[in-house]
Amino acid sequence: MPIPAVIDLAAAFASIDRPWTPHRAAEVNGHHVRLARLEGAFTWHDHAEEDELFLVVRGRLRIEFRGGDRTLEAGQMLLVPRGVEHRPVAEPTADVLLFEPGSTVSTGDTPDPRRVSDPPPLESPPMRPT
Ligand code: NI
Repeated sequence: MPIPAVIDLAAAFASIDRPWTPHRAAEVNGHHVRLARLEGAFTWHDHAEEDELFLVVRGRLRIEFRGGDRTLEAGQMLLVPRGVEHRPVAEPTADVLLFEPGSTVSTGDTPDPRRVSDPPPLESPPMRPT
């Protein structure tokens, strides 16, 4: 077994050219670690079967809920439980790590051109120089 690679998050985010397009950085027992560059407002949606963890790596992310908003700065995370409607809004941009089951569709059942159901892997996993 080869020695596992180090994935450099800054380099990984820099390799993603489109906002709201999560890329699969790792698989962990059926769950995905996904990286996404967010810009402005997403669409209201929920995930009926999946809890969704947001960890902000860079920038600021407001997550709107029907009952109020939460704002995450870099280094903070929030768990959105399954079935809870939410709308992520980057202020104005944010690099976000998502941890969620591999079945999670980015927009839930909400139709939206940014819908991603099967995130591509990072093109070439950026490694830290050794
Ligand atoms: Ni979501």
